[in-house]
Amino acid sequence: MSNIFSFNGAEESGYSQPYPIADAEQAKATIPTNLLRKERAGWPTASEPELVRHYTWLSRRNFGIDTGFYPLGSCTMKHNPRINEKIVQLAGMNDIHPLAPENHLQGLMSIFFEMQEMLAHCAGMDAVTLQPVAGAQGEFTAIRCIQEYHRMIGEEHRDKVIVPDSAHGTNPASAAMCGYSIIEIPSGEDGRLDLDALRAVVGEDTAAMMITNPSTLGVFEPDIAEAAKIVHEAGGQMYYDGANFNAIIGRTNPGLMGFDAVHYNLHKTFSQPHGGGGPGSGPIGVKEHLAEFLPSPIVSRRPAEEKEIGACDGWWYTWQKPEKSIGKVQQWHGNAGAVVRSWAFYRRYGKDLTTMSEHAVLNANYLRYKIMNPEPEVLEKIHAMPVDGCPAEVVKHEFTLSMSPLVDAVGVNGKDVAKRLLDYGYMAPTLYFPMIVPECLMIEPTETESKEELDLFAENFHKVLSDDPEILTSAPHNTDVKRVDEVWAARNLILRHTDE
Ligand SMILES: Cc1ncc(COP(=O)(O)O)c(C=O)c1O
Repeated sequence: MSNIFSFNGAEESGYSQPYPIADAEQAKATIPTNLLRKERAGWPTASEPELVRHYTWLSRRNFGIDTGFYPLGSCTMKHNPRINEKIVQLAGMNDIHPLAPENHLQGLMSIFFEMQEMLAHCAGMDAVTLQPVAGAQGEFTAIRCIQEYHRMIGEEHRDKVIVPDSAHGTNPASAAMCGYSIIEIPSGEDGRLDLDALRAVVGEDTAAMMITNPSTLGVFEPDIAEAAKIVHEAGGQMYYDGANFNAIIGRTNPGLMGFDAVHYNLHKTFSQPHGGGGPGSGPIGVKEHLAEFLPSPIVSRRPAEEKEIGACDGWWYTWQKPEKSIGKVQQWHGNAGAVVRSWAFYRRYGKDLTTMSEHAVLNANYLRYKIMNPEPEVLEKIHAMPVDGCPAEVVKHEFTLSMSPLVDAVGVNGKDVAKRLLDYGYMAPTLYFPMIVPECLMIEPTETESKEELDLFAENFHKVLSDDPEILTSAPHNTDVKRVDEVWAARNLILRHTDE
């Protein structure tokens, strides 16, 4: 594998000094001699064309939403509109220091304020903090607020958090990090929340229930208001995992369903680019009774005084720390760039967010239908059809497929299908999650894919299901890195480039 050091030896440098050499010599003269390098630093040297080719080559080795269809369920990998990038790169957003005083930041703070308001509005919450930088961090932050609330009302004995068995792993992990024990409840036969199972576990020790709606099976929980009633009557709080908000935004909201706290994944619903661990943003929204525990800073505003230069539209914005704040969960003001991009996205869509979620749902149902109903001549070539992960006739923004029939028919499993899809130029769907669906593939097309792209994916998916089993079990074949042994790789991490 080539890397930038392989160009070493070239005389040229891709970097041009922006100042005359005389200045460089002068600058050098100001550095104490004992701090000057005795020999070259060993940086790679490459000419400008070599450098450009190197980075272009590297970028081509990546797979991203800009290179192809990315149906990664529960991740909402949608197109990131370029207008967001333009706005975040304006000097007033990009060139400011986090320590800049309030009177230098009024424009950015007005955006933060507006974003807090818009997020509160769309989720039916009363207050928002933009601090957390991931969904999981939002979960932790909100559960800590709930914990402080229970302490304040003398109910700190509540030490259990309930999660359905279809929950994302971060839900129980976040609650456990706050010191709670986790109670998992099984889903009903229809893949939905089982109210009897919930009734059987709620009680005086219930601190909260964490749930996403639609669930990770892609189905809406029709009994969610009843579930909230059961939990509230027992004195617990309801937490909404907003990873699947793309399915319902504009149509309904967690506040109406009875939730007390929610996180938003700006990097999913609100088009902040993501993948590979970042960058993300997971603001949380809460109802009034939890607002005083939110982490700081929160932006508030008052009418500007005449002498206040730099005020925005007659308002003066200030950073606030809520009275009983749990403290900071992130340095500075959270992931400010992500907030600005998502603010641009939100402002552009406005009320059309409803249409956006409707298209996301339409695309998921269309693709599910296309995959599950191949033409007879296609069907006869397929080794075995997958089983739909959920019996619901209509799903929301994503669906799950069990590859178990393939295992029985030809010994090919979900992982083999996922790996083979890479050969056809796709990112693999989410694999083996939720765990209640055996050999699960979870597919979320999002609203930004065209009908043609979905048709092509269904066609290629069928081709994969009819490929020679040996090709499937040894896939991928067309990628730079072929089939890897994940267990070996996880236990023998090689984090440094070697020339072998
Ligand atoms: C259902 C669900 N909840 C929570 C999370 C955690 O979000 P994040 O990756 O931003 O920490 C995810 C992430 O994919 C998810 O799918």
